[in-house]
Amino acid sequence: MQAAKVRTTHLREKKARGEKIVMLTAYDTPSARLADAAGVDAVLVGDSVGNVVLGLPSTIPVTLEAMIHHCAAAARGVERALLVVDMPFMTYKISAEQAMANAARLMQEGGAEAVKLEGGAEIAPIVVRLAAAGVPVMGHIGLLPQSVHQLGGYRVQGRNAEEAERLVADARALRDAGAFSLVLELLPAAVGCQVTAAVDIPTIGIGAGPDCDGQVLVFHDVLGIESAPKRFVKVYASLGPVILEALRQYAADVREQRFPAAEHSFPDFRF
Ligand code: KIV
Repeated sequence: MQAAKVRTTHLREKKARGEKIVMLTAYDTPSARLADAAGVDAVLVGDSVGNVVLGLPSTIPVTLEAMIHHCAAAARGVERALLVVDMPFMTYKISAEQAMANAARLMQEGGAEAVKLEGGAEIAPIVVRLAAAGVPVMGHIGLLPQSVHQLGGYRVQGRNAEEAERLVADARALRDAGAFSLVLELLPAAVGCQVTAAVDIPTIGIGAGPDCDGQVLVFHDVLGIESAPKRFVKVYASLGPVILEALRQYAADVREQRFPAAEHSFPDFRF
């Protein structure tokens, strides 16, 4: 029997029941289909598509058009999981009108069921407008990859009491603005725990410790495809070397004329 479609409300119910939430990134139809079949609660079409798939140096050059394109592809692979998409750099901070117009495109053309925005209390007025317009918003605090140049690198955030308090205040402001959940990225485990306890909406951590209400990882990191080792990632398969070896064998078979063999060729037609 097909399991029930995951809705934003289900994530909140999971927090209330103390059940962990599982989110994974996906950027195309086959990876989204595999994530969905594995039973993840949410598929995130992250703007990490820039670094992970498009060969870009950061998420900053990722465009709205690219996110719509990848989200629509992922949507074709997802039946059950909640489909969340990142709003890319500078597509939601200029004005609430800009955010609403771009969220509409991500939902109508990309098939997203929720959008994720990076930022704290300063974007609360935009979250209010999106939520009031019926757009489910996932917040994202802690390390904000779209602000990497301002933050001075991909560093753990919330490393003193003042920063931790600001993160709690940001989480509360986003919750009050109508966000249905929050990603917490790269925080000391104690701060991940503190933020999670401070809000009644679910927190989904990446490098933010075990006490978040759920966890999110990047597809290629989990599967060991072309990714650098990271402390906060658990690698469940090493597919990079497996793929490389398979492709080497294919190249050798063609060069040595072992492929195509008779079974890969169509017999002659007789008229
Ligand atoms: O873009 C992304 O993949 C993300 C996750 C790291 C949470 O924002």
